[in-house]
Amino acid sequence: MKEHMGIRLCGTGSCVPAQTVTNDDMAKIVDTNDTWIRTRTGIENRHFADGETNLTITRKAAEQAIAMAGIAPSEIGVVVSATITGDTLVPSLACLLQRDLGLPETVFAFDVGAACTGFLFALHTARSLLCTMPEKRYALVTGSELLSRITNFTDRNTCVLFGDGAGAAVICLNPETAYYFDCGAQGNTEVLYCPRNYELPNPFAQNPSEPEQQQVHMEGRAVYTFAVQAIAGSIRRTAEQAGGFPDHYICHQANARIIQTAAKQLKEPLEKFFLDIEKYGNTSAASIPLALDDCVRSGKIHRGETLMLSGFGGGLSYGTAYFTF
Ligand code: UT7
Repeated sequence: MKEHMGIRLCGTGSCVPAQTVTNDDMAKIVDTNDTWIRTRTGIENRHFADGETNLTITRKAAEQAIAMAGIAPSEIGVVVSATITGDTLVPSLACLLQRDLGLPETVFAFDVGAACTGFLFALHTARSLLCTMPEKRYALVTGSELLSRITNFTDRNTCVLFGDGAGAAVICLNPETAYYFDCGAQGNTEVLYCPRNYELPNPFAQNPSEPEQQQVHMEGRAVYTFAVQAIAGSIRRTAEQAGGFPDHYICHQANARIIQTAAKQLKEPLEKFFLDIEKYGNTSAASIPLALDDCVRSGKIHRGETLMLSGFGGGLSYGTAYFTF
């Protein structure tokens, strides 16, 4: 039965821009300090692109994932790239990866825009495509953002939180194991949004509107409350499907306190929840694959152990996937 057919994580990769920006550096541009950022969020550093593009860092992460999988680029049949900060609206990041990685022309390549839940949705979409197209054996799933492109660096409520980065995974189906998924959406333009700054070039427009700045706005406390409820609820529902909690959790890294509170609500040991927010801040769609690559490469997760990946954020949206590593 394909409904719950598992996936195998064949390879992972990650890349962040070279420039590291500390909390003390942020305190030079807005009224903040290292203690506030560290205690309220867990963040110590973040990376901001300075010359790198979304494509350059995603390509590096993808190359690592393909190398670890030990497959040829020609074996990849699907590319799903999660990002809201692609270098171009068209072509998609996924199509540019097809070109730069030398993937076959028959590849099914497109982007998914779901902010911090992006990697989860991309992973689930890629798995679904593998289930329905047996001729496509491997999928490349990426999550990457240059959030510095859409950050308001005069707003201390948000600019200290975000960072840039990219992560990637190569997956294939694994009929020996099971996969479960939970997701949800609550359309909302009040607590977390980023407008597009279209200039309205239509010369026939009778109702031109002022283009807005393309910057993230967030009501931190409201999103915090949503995040804790979303993550705990989604993990609980996924665990009900799977018949139990997993060995490890890799959650979207938005705030260490969100993960700690969710763990408490679930009565699960905090040690099962991976945390690397201190290194990268909140990198939206990149945070889960960045963390996944760290766990895989450092040997924190082992073959045969079960994982839950859980994302939440802009949309508002959330999603959780359960599978065996
Ligand atoms: O990625 C997807 C979704 N995003 C999230 O999940 C983020 C969810 N929200 C959060 O993580 C937290 O709400 C924040 C980290 C954004 C904020 O933490 P908080 O504990 O909710 O703080 P707050 O917004 O309630 O602000 C508390 C105080 C305020 O001062 P007053 O009004 O109490 O005097 C803020 O003005 O902290 C002040 N403040 C700061 N102080 C120093 C806000 N930002 C800063 C700052 N440095 N950067």
